[in-house]
Amino acid sequence: MRRIAVLTSGGDAPGMNAAIRATVRYAISQNMEVFGVERGYDGLIKGNLYKMDSRSVSDTIHRGGTILKTARCPEFQTKEGMDKAIEVLKAYGIEGLIVIGGDGSYRGMKDLYVQYGFPCAGIPGTIDNDLAYTDYTLGFDTAVNTVLSAINNIRDTMTSHDRACIIEVMGRHCGDIALYAGLAGGAEAMIVPEIPFNLDELCAAMKRNIIKGKVSDIILLAEGVCDADTLKKQIEAKIPIVIRTVKLGYIQRGGTPSMADRVLAARCAVKAVDLLKNDEGGKVVGIKNNAIIAVDVVEALDMPRVIDKDLYRIATLLSQ
Ligand code: ADP
Ligand code: F6P
Repeated sequence: MRRIAVLTSGGDAPGMNAAIRATVRYAISQNMEVFGVERGYDGLIKGNLYKMDSRSVSDTIHRGGTILKTARCPEFQTKEGMDKAIEVLKAYGIEGLIVIGGDGSYRGMKDLYVQYGFPCAGIPGTIDNDLAYTDYTLGFDTAVNTVLSAINNIRDTMTSHDRACIIEVMGRHCGDIALYAGLAGGAEAMIVPEIPFNLDELCAAMKRNIIKGKVSDIILLAEGVCDADTLKKQIEAKIPIVIRTVKLGYIQRGGTPSMADRVLAARCAVKAVDLLKNDEGGKVVGIKNNAIIAVDVVEALDMPRVIDKDLYRIATLLSQ
């Protein structure tokens, strides 16, 4: 395989640029040409591709976001849209495509491979960490560290005023950001979509915390459960407590990628390029027990996502 393309798709994530950089420089080292696709599948359909070289990715490893930009593209979910994408890839002589994105982007990649036989390789780029086949996705470590920094700042002021705070974090169907940031940040409670929570038990625990003299009460709430103000009203209706709410929102999606995300990006990109070079398309790259793996994209998408219940147990115990 002599000519490949790379695109970023779906929600952006810190580390995507490090993955683009590694893809370009490693592919060139393997005597391959690399084309960048702008704005994900939308750009692919519109033919927005440009040849990249080592200088194209200079001074990008430390930058959040994606220099290729990303987009959501409903047209790609139509046969006409996918037909156009294949036409563009053939017109440019592209023989393989690397997709950096989340589960939605992977579904698009799967269709290109299964329905059109077009060789693709996936790199897991999403802050949610919601892909079951891999221990971590690009951007997750950076996002959790961003939340951690916010918890520290918020705890300072809540402690000063003897207040509780509900911090709403991203993660529509996956509570990993809330869980990992809650454990690492010493939160008093982590509320995630995967584990039903009992409002009465939460209120009882908050009352105990006051009696025990805990200096602050920080609750991490994944957005997929409910919004912070709804939960605030529910708690205030049950116990006399002063609660503030913070919705962290998009600061979790930006920022300079952590060391972990930059190293993961490089390892995944090399593996993805090698898969295409060795004609092993149709796979997605990930990390399992610190080893880089490649899994059939259909199999990867079929794996049920489960939260680490033991980690949740530990986090809950240590919050007492
Ligand atoms: P993420 O990749 O972060 O999960 P999305 O779910 O928004 O982000 O998906 C990104 C893009 O992938 C969508 O805008 C669409 O172009 C494409 N896509 C998503 N789901 C499918 C699907 N089932 N079939 C084909 N393409 C899809
Ligand atoms: O999928 C990553 C993610 O950041 C989710 O955690 C969040 O709910 C969603 O994307 C936000 O999507 P958008 O950027 O389209 O508002």
